[in-house]
Amino acid sequence: MPAYTEPDGHPGLRAALARHVGVSRSVRAGADDVLVTQGAQQALDLVGRVLVEPGDRVAVEEPGYPPARRLFRSHGARVTGVPVDAEGLVVAALPADTRLVYVTPSHQFPLGVPMSLARRTALLDWAERHGAVLVEDDYDSEYRFGGRPLEPLQSLDRHGRVVYVGSFSKTLLPMLRVGFLVAPASLRSALRTAKHLADWHGDLTTQGALAEFVDEGLLARHIRRTSREYAARRRAVLAALRDRLAGRLDPVPSAAGLHLAARPAPGSRVDLAPVVARAGERGVAVASLAGYCAERPRPGLVIGYGGIALADVDEGIRRLAAAFPPALLG
Ligand SMILES: Cc1ncc(COP(=O)(O)O)c(C=O)c1O
Repeated sequence: MPAYTEPDGHPGLRAALARHVGVSRSVRAGADDVLVTQGAQQALDLVGRVLVEPGDRVAVEEPGYPPARRLFRSHGARVTGVPVDAEGLVVAALPADTRLVYVTPSHQFPLGVPMSLARRTALLDWAERHGAVLVEDDYDSEYRFGGRPLEPLQSLDRHGRVVYVGSFSKTLLPMLRVGFLVAPASLRSALRTAKHLADWHGDLTTQGALAEFVDEGLLARHIRRTSREYAARRRAVLAALRDRLAGRLDPVPSAAGLHLAARPAPGSRVDLAPVVARAGERGVAVASLAGYCAERPRPGLVIGYGGIALADVDEGIRRLAAAFPPALLG
């Protein structure tokens, strides 16, 4: 007989995800700690429903991920953008009354910098002292191109302060709408109730198929194979930026994910908004960093390589270079 099931999602997928994030990210989780969501966005929504009262302070990164900012604001939060430097979120700049901090430590969105270990520890200490919850969005860290990644906040946390959020949108497809969260024991029952109220549970047919995909090792294989491809594209973007835009754009150092950011080189004063528009007219989609800043616009570009063939990268950057004002071409 057809029946509804548990709000946490397909038990097989929860177990498979717990193993997967344990191996790939050293996240400490059993199947019972995992709640399957409709993408990372629903994970943020559930956290908002459970933890945010109208008027509560929520801190997000600046620049940061606009859907997260908008989501917390929709729950009535006072959302404050906290600056990001070369080590990640500036913990010293967090307002003292912050109830919840949304961060992307593995690959800061959109700058790409990983949060340093010192900053991770400082953020966890801060959360413990201020009674705040940290939402760690680990949306694309399966793709990493440097050395060993730093431990997630979730596995460094000793006080149950971190909700870890993952998604299949980058590894597989955004249209799958499958993400998940790993919550501390104290929040689990409330998050489960919030999920039940929102949509009872997700699509168990897709979740069951995904569980087999993960269990049979196909996800890990897919990530290994696509990592090689993305690494090649990333090298090609960096090489083309060096060849064609040195002196005008400086890539921000990063070692993960499917995009990178670049800032105007020192001394370069070009207005990047028309560059983005002209590049678009030439069939090249890049985003302005300013579009990810809600409070303090910063100049720069965000360049994705998830959707471009390796063979097209150099031509894409050539067209981007051609979109710069001629007077500035060296
Ligand atoms: C920072 C960040 N978090 C999460 C996601 C994925 O969200 P979802 O799982 O809702 O598709 C993205 C996708 O672009 C992202 O950039």
